[in-house]
Amino acid sequence: MGLLIRLAAAASTTLVLATAVHADEKVEYGEYLSGSCVTCHQLSGADNGIPAIVGWDAEAFVEVLLSYKTKERDNKAMQTIAIPLSKEEMEALAAYFATIKAKE
Ligand code: HEC
Repeated sequence: MGLLIRLAAAASTTLVLATAVHADEKVEYGEYLSGSCVTCHQLSGADNGIPAIVGWDAEAFVEVLLSYKTKERDNKAMQTIAIPLSKEEMEALAAYFATIKAKE
């Protein structure tokens, strides 16, 4: 293997690792933030009158939180929750809840 090819391979491995670590941190931060959600939303994915939020597509999850924040979606409880959340916090929550599978 030529030196350049080896360097390129090493660089791309580093990049993949860095991305993985970054994603893990996001999920961990989301898990930390989720404490204020699971008092209402069931982690099992059960709908007890409050909709399930596990296993969602992360982008759709952020969109929905933003729509509560902007009051486009009308629900007082969720508006109160979403208003103080930053986009980064929403993305972390989305990443975390996306990793959880609803129990059948
Ligand atoms: C006080 C109870 C309560 C808390 C705490 C709460 N939620 Fe909710 N959430 C609700 C209710 C009730 C709805 C349904 C609102 C509606 O009809 O639009 C909802 C809806 C949602 C939806 C949309 C679900 C759907 O099927 O459209 C998402 C996503 C969501 N919540 C995320 C969160 C996150 C993330 C947190 C924590 C940061 C959180 N919620 C905290 C009560 C709560």
